[in-house]
Amino acid sequence: MSDEALENLLAEDRTFPPPAEFAAAANLSDPSVYERARRDPEGFWAAEADTLHWFKAWDRVLDWELPFAQWFVGAETNMSYNCLDRHVNSGGGDKVAYHWEGEPGDTRTITYAQLLEDVCRCANALRELGVGTGDRVAIYMPMIPETVVTMLACARIGAPHTLVFAGFSADALADRMHDSGAKLLVTADGQNRRGQQVSLKPNADAAFASATECNYMLVVRRTGQDIAWNDEVDFWWHDVVDRQEPQCPPVRLDSEHMLYLLYTSGTTAKPKGIKHTTGGYMVGVAATHRWVFDIKDDDVYWCAADVGWVTGHSYIVYGPLCNHTTGVMYEGTPDFPDKDRWWSIVERYGVTILYCAPTAIRTFMKWGDTYPGAHDLSSLRLLGSVGEPINPEAWIWYRDVIGSGRTPVVDTWWQTETGAIMVSPLPGLTTTKPGSATYALPGIDADVVDDEGRSVPDGSGGYLVLRSPWPAMLRGIYGDDERYAETYWRRFPGMYFAGDGAKKDDDGYLWVLGRVDDVMNVSGHRISTTEVESALVSHDAVAEAAVVGRDDETTGQAIAAFVVLRAGVVGDDALLAELRDHVASVIGPIAKPKSIVFTEDLPKTRSGKIMRRLLRDISENRKLGDVTTLANADIVNEIADRASAAAPED
Ligand code: WTA
Repeated sequence: MSDEALENLLAEDRTFPPPAEFAAAANLSDPSVYERARRDPEGFWAAEADTLHWFKAWDRVLDWELPFAQWFVGAETNMSYNCLDRHVNSGGGDKVAYHWEGEPGDTRTITYAQLLEDVCRCANALRELGVGTGDRVAIYMPMIPETVVTMLACARIGAPHTLVFAGFSADALADRMHDSGAKLLVTADGQNRRGQQVSLKPNADAAFASATECNYMLVVRRTGQDIAWNDEVDFWWHDVVDRQEPQCPPVRLDSEHMLYLLYTSGTTAKPKGIKHTTGGYMVGVAATHRWVFDIKDDDVYWCAADVGWVTGHSYIVYGPLCNHTTGVMYEGTPDFPDKDRWWSIVERYGVTILYCAPTAIRTFMKWGDTYPGAHDLSSLRLLGSVGEPINPEAWIWYRDVIGSGRTPVVDTWWQTETGAIMVSPLPGLTTTKPGSATYALPGIDADVVDDEGRSVPDGSGGYLVLRSPWPAMLRGIYGDDERYAETYWRRFPGMYFAGDGAKKDDDGYLWVLGRVDDVMNVSGHRISTTEVESALVSHDAVAEAAVVGRDDETTGQAIAAFVVLRAGVVGDDALLAELRDHVASVIGPIAKPKSIVFTEDLPKTRSGKIMRRLLRDISENRKLGDVTTLANADIVNEIADRASAAAPED
């Protein structure tokens, strides 16, 4: 029986120092920044805060009564002022804030000055519809500029927003509207997805009917499709917003005023309303965006997440706008009209920085190199990844095929709860290893601990924790302080822990190994799903893999693998045997999958994370669990069919 919290199996010896030219021009190029932040974290964050605008200065940088933090205590500021007015007032109004592209090919170019006017009009409209400072506004919208405008208008008048991803059901929307007590719902008639007009308003109507606190709906006409309309409660955006004055003074808000709620779905329990406030969050996202993406004045930056996830909040909207960045926003799917849509966008706008999720990268890998190969991607100078562990082979593919073998890759670990990136390379300073998020950022106190909360030595695995408060941290779960304390702060007293396993390699690099709920226990060895998946993906026939532990009489759990092959590869018995041997040779016989199922796709959450729980159910022939947060529900039945046909190997 191993006493390790988590085995350290996969070894990676490829390293990538920052290119000399990149390092010479990087925003952060002096390694002493880490030590400076360690010596005086409050002074360090205060210096970052000084780059932003405050109507009133803070009395204290931090008040910390575990687990409740307040940052920049007593200060007054406004997020939308910092994102917009500050730049327009200093002559930067003509700079493009967003190059937006709709799925059908329609485009809009929006400058900072135009965005400020739109935000002011929208803020005035919100007030006309009865929204005041402190009232919550629900946003159920496509990836269109009005979504960003609404978020900033809410921030301008201090009305916390809560975005609900447009792929969620009416029930999911109703739950979140009810829990947040939203007074207004902002939505659209529909959105464009893979060449289809997908309606939103019917879901909004159904949710509205059961959310009794909500008075009105403000509706953007996006697709022009037929929708039900109730004159008493429904208002068209073009009727109400367009006629407003383009000025609206920003409200001076306390640093700890709630900026937004964002619900994390969780797999079983009631969604948690993660609460973020104004001042600290602003400092956290602005600083991390500038450091990690090395943002320069002439960059064209594309975060391809959906604005409905935290990645969209922090790194499509608030961080980039604080830094006066030119961004790209795209409404639709990556395979419309063909599988090269992203690469045509990169080429068209001269995108210099791309930030996306491993699930997208592995999908592009599956589709093959021809699609990116058909476009000029030479404008790219930096690539980022977020949302799941990135398999070393996917990392290499991303750097080689998308980044032409020369761009640094930053793998960024963080969560809805952390608000901003916590663990990531600094592209001008850090020598990267494919698959590792490397080190905690300056001012962030991350560690890996064992079952008793003791820091593990290099070369061992355990639980990823944060030991000190940070400015962008969640301030609680909306309406449930006890659940907040219990969920994040009790497992290891005095430390924040939110469910991820990790290891430190022999050089002290951090490797995030996925959720500890997914860890498998094979003959007493605790093995992370990530390492076995990465071993499978390191075979050149494989684009994507998911593994789970299923009950086994002899070994406690046995490893069951689900494998998506690269375009053109045929999955037969020979390949199956080869893959099992491959895993054994890459990380050891203990990790050899007992069964492997070839599949076209894997079940994923709407934000692209693999749903291993469902695969576990399939592997153990249990009745399937809740699939309402599943993006590709059909695939579950298909995998279940194939899994029952595939006899386990010995
Ligand atoms: C996972 C997304 C490995 C992790 C910003 C975390 C990652 C959860 C990484 C949060 C990464 C995110 N490497 N795992 N670079 N980034 N995760 O709240 O399990 O949607 O706890 O926030 O995603 O997901 P969330």
